[in-house]
Amino acid sequence: MAESLILTGTTKKEKYESLIPQIKALVDGESDYIANISNIMSALKHGMDWFWVGVYFVKQEQLVLGPFQGPIACTRIAFGKGVCGTSWKEKKTIIVEDVEKFPGHIACSSLSQSEIVLPAFDQNGNVTLVLDVDSEHLATFDETDKFYLEQVMRLIESLC
Ligand code: SME
Repeated sequence: MAESLILTGTTKKEKYESLIPQIKALVDGESDYIANISNIMSALKHGMDWFWVGVYFVKQEQLVLGPFQGPIACTRIAFGKGVCGTSWKEKKTIIVEDVEKFPGHIACSSLSQSEIVLPAFDQNGNVTLVLDVDSEHLATFDETDKFYLEQVMRLIESLC
């Protein structure tokens, strides 16, 4: 694996295009799932300069906090609750431009203003985890983030 990230690009697209191959290289040759997810969270946090990046694993009927980067966060989220639980329930990526306008949003930090949540699936189409990315600014995430972060989700699925 690489020892450090080389961060280039000024546009969001350029940053992702630079970062994603490095994320793939980061996990290449390492078989430990948690170690790989942990490094992917760090690479996303530092590569994209977001407020909070982390995963919640599906465990029985709840989401349970996994590797993350950023301030401490809620540890458990119920099915269908908050943005994360809704992404799990609806099995789809959810972009929230203003968390105040998302009914039932769970505020782990009052500083978070917008977010994107994406699910990862097993081979039967069951959600195994969700990736949650939070921003301190409104409307940070859009279709470009969805496009590139869904590539990261497919990589995470391949790690199992
Ligand atoms: N805002 C999320 C909860 C997780 S924290 O933001 C890290 C939600 O509504 O599901």
